[in-house]
Amino acid sequence: MAEAIKDLDPDNMVRSPGITYQELLDTDTHQVPEVLRLQSPKFLGDADVSIERYTTKEWHDKEVERLWKRVWQMACREEDIPEAGDHIRYDIAGISFIVLRTEGGTIKCYPNACLHRGRMLKEFDGRASELRCAFHGFCWSLDGDLVDVPANWDFPHVNASEFGLPEIPTATWGGFVFINPDQNCDPFDDFIKDLASQFERWDLSKMYKQAHVAKIMPANWKIAQEAFCEAYHVNATHPQILRSLGCVNSQVDVWENCARVITPSLTASPLLDYELTEQDMVRAMMDIPEGAPAPDLPEGMNARAWMAAGSREGNRADAGDLVDEYCDAEMVDNLDYTLFPNFHPWGAFNKICYRFRPNGNDHRSAIMECIMMAPFSGERPPPAEIRWLEEDEPWSAALGFLGRVFDQDAFNMPKVQQGLESTYKPGVTLANYQESKVRWLHHRLGEWVEGE
Ligand code: FES
Ligand SMILES: [Fe+2]
Repeated sequence: MAEAIKDLDPDNMVRSPGITYQELLDTDTHQVPEVLRLQSPKFLGDADVSIERYTTKEWHDKEVERLWKRVWQMACREEDIPEAGDHIRYDIAGISFIVLRTEGGTIKCYPNACLHRGRMLKEFDGRASELRCAFHGFCWSLDGDLVDVPANWDFPHVNASEFGLPEIPTATWGGFVFINPDQNCDPFDDFIKDLASQFERWDLSKMYKQAHVAKIMPANWKIAQEAFCEAYHVNATHPQILRSLGCVNSQVDVWENCARVITPSLTASPLLDYELTEQDMVRAMMDIPEGAPAPDLPEGMNARAWMAAGSREGNRADAGDLVDEYCDAEMVDNLDYTLFPNFHPWGAFNKICYRFRPNGNDHRSAIMECIMMAPFSGERPPPAEIRWLEEDEPWSAALGFLGRVFDQDAFNMPKVQQGLESTYKPGVTLANYQESKVRWLHHRLGEWVEGE
């Protein structure tokens, strides 16, 4: 059984030496919003997490039955299907769905299967005026009504009123479309409420999809996902950004169905054994090589305030006056949220939104996606099409500096899988605070998959 969740007192708990995130917020040049002042540290037990969760097909199969077939999950952006008949194919663990826009403008989802002999109805994303099966030609309207059966004299037993496509529950939030394969699922509003209350200030529906990159990663989907759920790995995996990131000073907060890790930029990591100047941090953050000239900080301005001011100006054309409402922390820090089980939108203008899924029913590979959400002014730009990276193509080919960081994370993934297949130790050990988002994911997973 999983241990009970215990609230921790943020003012009286074991945490990293150095400035806390809340103390850093006290230095902000702008008013800090309530959402950043929230603290919700939790102790979720310290038992090892069983390795079978990553290495066995049995656990994957349980996950499919008890999690993926029952949980709300992000399928696409609303902007991916703007017009009637626009549809995308959403696949999860070998099961395929069609998500589409009807003539009336609503979004519907159907299992991607013909009701005649079961052929997949849509193999590709696109626009269609109807859903006609390519095998024998049974056809449904966008609303799921059966409208044509070739040689229908042979199907007196098929009653059109009983042969509509089964509807799968859908919901939208922040411009994202969610589906739930379980027609008797719990209401979406309950599922999203923790995340929705956090994002009231950061309306992702007002952003557009600037980039969408996907790649098959050679590791269980949770290994891939957990590589992005803590900042503890920064010192060993990304030493080049340690000089501009307060990695172990991150604040970790856990609610019921969402959690966050806020990693401050432009504050010295307590893991560094030398002093950094404000100029050093700017240099590191801007990726300016040693010896190349770096901009001078104005008198009396620290690195955070200066970089935040620069970010305001950089975003002003697209985001408008909102940039003046956002505090320094919103402009420069890493506000990394996770909605159970696999959706990771970042707050403010961080742009990043990850999604991780099993790759079909192969429990040793995963689909990792990075969607970049950006503000815009005027007419909504068309959403970026998904770009699939080849096996040997690095993330940096599509995402530049950020991609280089991902490539370092990606480099670990197959080695973690391999290590877990080889270890004599039955479980992985987690840090109590810094890795509490990983712990929370497993806690919830245990509830769903093992009924803990
Ligand atoms: S399987 Fe679809 S029409 Fe026959
Ligand atoms: Fe990383």
